[in-house]
Amino acid sequence: MTHFLDIDKSNPKALRGIIDTALEMKQARIGSPKGTLDKDQPLSGQMVALIFEKPSTRTRVSFDVGVRQMGGQTMLLSGADMQLGHGETIADTARVLSRYVDLIMIRTFEEATLLEMADFATVPVINGLTNRSHPCQIMADIMTFEEHRGPIKGRKVVWSGDGNNVFTSFAHAAVQFGFDLTFTGPEPLDPDQNLLQKARDKGINVTIERNPQKAVQGADLVVTDTWVSMHDPQSARERRHNQLRGYQVNTDLMSNAKPNALFMHCLPAHRDDEATSEVMDGPHSVIFDEAENRLHVQKAIMRHCLGV
Ligand code: CP
Ligand code: NVA
Repeated sequence: MTHFLDIDKSNPKALRGIIDTALEMKQARIGSPKGTLDKDQPLSGQMVALIFEKPSTRTRVSFDVGVRQMGGQTMLLSGADMQLGHGETIADTARVLSRYVDLIMIRTFEEATLLEMADFATVPVINGLTNRSHPCQIMADIMTFEEHRGPIKGRKVVWSGDGNNVFTSFAHAAVQFGFDLTFTGPEPLDPDQNLLQKARDKGINVTIERNPQKAVQGADLVVTDTWVSMHDPQSARERRHNQLRGYQVNTDLMSNAKPNALFMHCLPAHRDDEATSEVMDGPHSVIFDEAENRLHVQKAIMRHCLGV
């Protein structure tokens, strides 16, 4: 069973294969209307369940469109409307869904939910974001970086802000793709130290630099994300804004990175909080390419999982 649960649970060859497939499939569709079917229909006859226990725009639409382009069918399920949201166990849900569908994508809260789903499902399970990680996003980000700037191996990626789920997947990717990673943010919002240590143990240059101006020096890529994630209590909002204000990605900060540095944000963004509109809409920004590449890379991930 080939699940896609996290970037650190895969291997460089498989991940590279996914990106290559995504690039080929993207190329093959150039000029086609979005609703046109792909020439090859690898998901023909396949049914995919898309389960959301949290809101989503990109993940929802890109998976749905991607399945259809490849000839499959989708079923969009909200966690709250399923018995899952009313006490049925994850294990039973996984076993039941496996009798109806060929693939499950789930966006949920606890990582344990995803892992239990994968343990009990007899079809592949894809992680569409948990409190802990967001691997599909970072696969799209690696693809986007390489389309613009060539191999990411040996480059310097700087994360400014909260050490959250999206950062975790960047740390996993640093190991698999071999890039340097610097975190800059306030100490209370540091990423998990074990995560950083694991990357260092594999020979990856991972650093924490409290001063954002210093952190971005020599950066090939500057990344940020929302200051308050979907799983964070809204009561933390004001405190987080105070803690993170100094880590906003603005033109001044970008001017300390390499002149041709890229700027990424997985979106949705809170414009003029974590990043200014000037940066988001400016020459370094590739935020909408990232969003587009979710579609292409997830199509490749689904093919990888289904072996088609
Ligand atoms: N980046 C991302 O996963 O966006 P959605 O929450 O809209 O799916
Ligand atoms: N860190 C954000 C990412 C949203 C795609 C969240 O979890 O809300």
